[in-house]
Amino acid sequence: MAGGAPDTRAGTEPQRLIGGRSQSEVMTQVPTVTLPSGDELPQVGVGTWDIAGDTVRESVRAGLDAGYGHVDTAEGYMNEDEIGEVLADYDREDVFLTSKVLPKNLNYESVIQSCEDSLERLGTDYLDLYLIHWPNPAISLRETMNAMATLHDRGLVRNVGVSNFSAYQLSCAQHVSDVPIAVNQIEFHPWLQRPDLVEYCRETDTVIEAAAPLGRTEVFEDDTVQDLAEEYDKSPAQVILKWEIERGIVTLPKSSTPEHVRQNLELFDWDVAEEDLERLDDADRDHPVYDHPSRDWTGDVYGISQ
Ligand SMILES: NC(=O)c1ccc[n+]([C@@H]2O[C@H](COP(=O)([O-])OP(=O)(O)OC[C@H]3O[C@@H](n4cnc5c(N)ncnc54)[C@H](OP(=O)(O)O)[C@@H]3O)[C@@H](O)[C@H]2O)c1
Repeated sequence: MAGGAPDTRAGTEPQRLIGGRSQSEVMTQVPTVTLPSGDELPQVGVGTWDIAGDTVRESVRAGLDAGYGHVDTAEGYMNEDEIGEVLADYDREDVFLTSKVLPKNLNYESVIQSCEDSLERLGTDYLDLYLIHWPNPAISLRETMNAMATLHDRGLVRNVGVSNFSAYQLSCAQHVSDVPIAVNQIEFHPWLQRPDLVEYCRETDTVIEAAAPLGRTEVFEDDTVQDLAEEYDKSPAQVILKWEIERGIVTLPKSSTPEHVRQNLELFDWDVAEEDLERLDDADRDHPVYDHPSRDWTGDVYGISQ
């Protein structure tokens, strides 16, 4: 298990009752991993990339009502205002909230400003986790990590982390950071299992969060996924997410469909045999859906021109 043993997340007095149950009660089924700070990170979060307006409002509300207790956004997703409106209806301490700073904003003052702006849009005075969205080789990592430490010291972010960092980039961040790098959010799914990067994260107690955990639906076509979906009478999405949970990964499925959002949390009242999990371990194709190596020279992956 990356970053600590599974546990259940205890909540506090809720504002809302969900189907006669408190928010805390519905959340107790979701396993968590323990971060270096001692905070508990629920292993399934509501992904929100590329959805805005009513779609993201309904998606996040459906997720929180179903018991996710964890929402993943970013300044670059342009949906923090809407998410903030939804969060206002829930107890803040019942939600593990993550945002990210864009690579164009990684100098010291911009990191501070980006975080303060995200907090304003989200209607909260702290983030549970703040991530560098992508590395930016044009800006000093030491400067960025100093800003992250300042945010941590000011209590504006409880945990810091990175996203889309290679093992080498992560080791550099660890070297210059005064606060533990709690998380590396990376593309991860059965077709992109990244064993070397995963091993380095595990060796350094860095929790792995799976971005694009469903491979943006491409992985639904996998023969093993299809076989197991039929065998266990579950959807391809559920089979993939179950495997990620069992492998100690924190997973962030995104859906614009509230029914899918709910289905993606129905993972904890059934089991998969170890030999079937191993069949999915064997499904790796080294096939990215967004983190293509060619991005380094064909696109503005670092957002430098933004
Ligand atoms: N750090 C980064 O750079 C980075 C990059 C990518 C993603 N992420 C994070 O990871 C999250 C997820 O990644 P993603 O949005 O790229 O892709 P994804 O979650 O792998 O796939 C999303 C797709 O899966 C479909 N889907 C979800 N649940 C389903 C279900 N139960 N049945 C059928 N279809 C289902 C959705 O369609 P419907 O809407 O029709 O359900 C949508 O087309 C993002 O939202 C973001 O929070 C981070």
